[in-house]
Amino acid sequence: MAGRGSSFYVTTPIYYVNDVPHIGHAYTTIACDVLARFMRLDGRNVRFLTGTDEHGQKVEKSAAAAGEAPRAFVDRVSQRFRELVEKLDISHDDFIRTTEDRHIKASQAIWQALIDGGHIYLGSYAGWYSVRDEAFYAESEIVDGKEPSGAPVEWVEEPSYFFRLSAWQQPLLDFYRANPDFIAPQSRRNEVMSFVEGGLLDLSVSRTSFSWGVPVPNDPDHVMYVWLDALTNYITAVGYPNTDDPLYQTFWPANVHVVGKDILRFHAVYWPAFLMAAGLEPPRRVFAHGWWTVEGQKMSKSLRNVVDPFTLVDSFGLDQVRYFLMREVPFGNDGDFSRKALIGRLNNDLANDFGNLSQRVLSMIARNCGGKVPEPGALTDDDKTMLSSASDLLGRIRPLMETQTFHEALDVIWTVIRAANSYVDRQAPWALKKTDPARMGTVLWVLAETIRRLAFLTQPFVPGGAGRMLDQLAIADDARDFAAFDTALVAGTALPAPSGIFPRFAEEDEAIA
Ligand code: MSP
Repeated sequence: MAGRGSSFYVTTPIYYVNDVPHIGHAYTTIACDVLARFMRLDGRNVRFLTGTDEHGQKVEKSAAAAGEAPRAFVDRVSQRFRELVEKLDISHDDFIRTTEDRHIKASQAIWQALIDGGHIYLGSYAGWYSVRDEAFYAESEIVDGKEPSGAPVEWVEEPSYFFRLSAWQQPLLDFYRANPDFIAPQSRRNEVMSFVEGGLLDLSVSRTSFSWGVPVPNDPDHVMYVWLDALTNYITAVGYPNTDDPLYQTFWPANVHVVGKDILRFHAVYWPAFLMAAGLEPPRRVFAHGWWTVEGQKMSKSLRNVVDPFTLVDSFGLDQVRYFLMREVPFGNDGDFSRKALIGRLNNDLANDFGNLSQRVLSMIARNCGGKVPEPGALTDDDKTMLSSASDLLGRIRPLMETQTFHEALDVIWTVIRAANSYVDRQAPWALKKTDPARMGTVLWVLAETIRRLAFLTQPFVPGGAGRMLDQLAIADDARDFAAFDTALVAGTALPAPSGIFPRFAEEDEAIA
């Protein structure tokens, strides 16, 4: 496992600016943020990239439909995605827009590298294209005039440059076999491998029937296929084409591109092929997460059920939304977003389990220990078991975070939260107050220590609440990374007055807009 100080580069997909952000976009970004925060706290040198994908026919059409020039349209919609990362308190280091000069330069440079290597040739494309997916489809994939996931396709016939993808079938298969963790989850890896085993056709990488894209070097009739342009963002942001850039040297290859399952093929087949052809290293890993439905239905404008992440955060709170998205569904699986499930999780896991634990314990300390960290006496077996289950947690969740198994990391943390609640009930410190105040002090110290460790480890998931818990334990802002995980509370330290961390929600008066 990579140690402290080692680099960690994580990316979200860059979002199409054809429409306003929804919960699906928030999901990927939050997952990456959880990972980035965890790795930073764990001492890694993190770079976290997100941004917007602003070229292509889909965006051009949306601009036209809005009656705006593409440039003005992308500026406006991209801004909404920036507002979303603010709203979600995302800890990204860079926000890239594919209309920026640095990116146009990088896209043209990778194009040139592919031309120079003889990987691109001029031909003509005649076939099906889906603007929604910005993807080409073979005749055999078309069912009732639509592509397999149901998007309409149109017939395109135009001069086009092609990337010799067919030549990369064997190198890609060799690469997947040599790097068994490159595609996750495993079931997705199998899908991609059988797709590649089925044979690869050369890929059209330029378009001539519209102009909203990166101009092909030396052939101004063509713009680059939006996916070649878009994928390149991951290296633009670390300084490509200057591969001597310290960012490139430190952070490429990326540790993980987190993407939705719908765009895995672009990331796990085309992208490593482009990179290898350009003489660059492929990323280390691509993780494909699943899709959310809403109250059992596909999210769509026509069903008017698109969940707006801004409203959701306003109604329920940011920690609450982050927690639900990371806990409800195993990362990699599809899931259903329902109001009932959301409120259930928030009330049971956050308010009852975690919030009550800290509230009960810290108020007992405030009332019965003069508001100071109590002095522990000799420890019983029960105390030791409690303490060690909390101190073991970091070692247990680290491998889960390395593999993006977020729901399990939370599950493991919550097992200890529930164990701490049982320990409170079993030890009944309130009853010890009269009979054995010293023992009460020990029990409360064990609990405060346990809460401290739990708050440390929940910071990546619920940064607000975990931060307030650490405030209430008087842990300095600069002593909250995992290097301080084993630094125990000092008896006698004055603690601020405790207050509730995670509120309960009443089923009746909340609405998801
Ligand atoms: N622009 C491309 C990505 C280029 S990356 C080099 C794109 N953009 S997108 O805005 O359409 O989608 C971005 C991400 O949102 C994808 O990973 C997609 O899977 C995710 N989601 C969109 N709807 C979703 C759900 N309903 N549920 C979960 N994620 C979803 O594709």
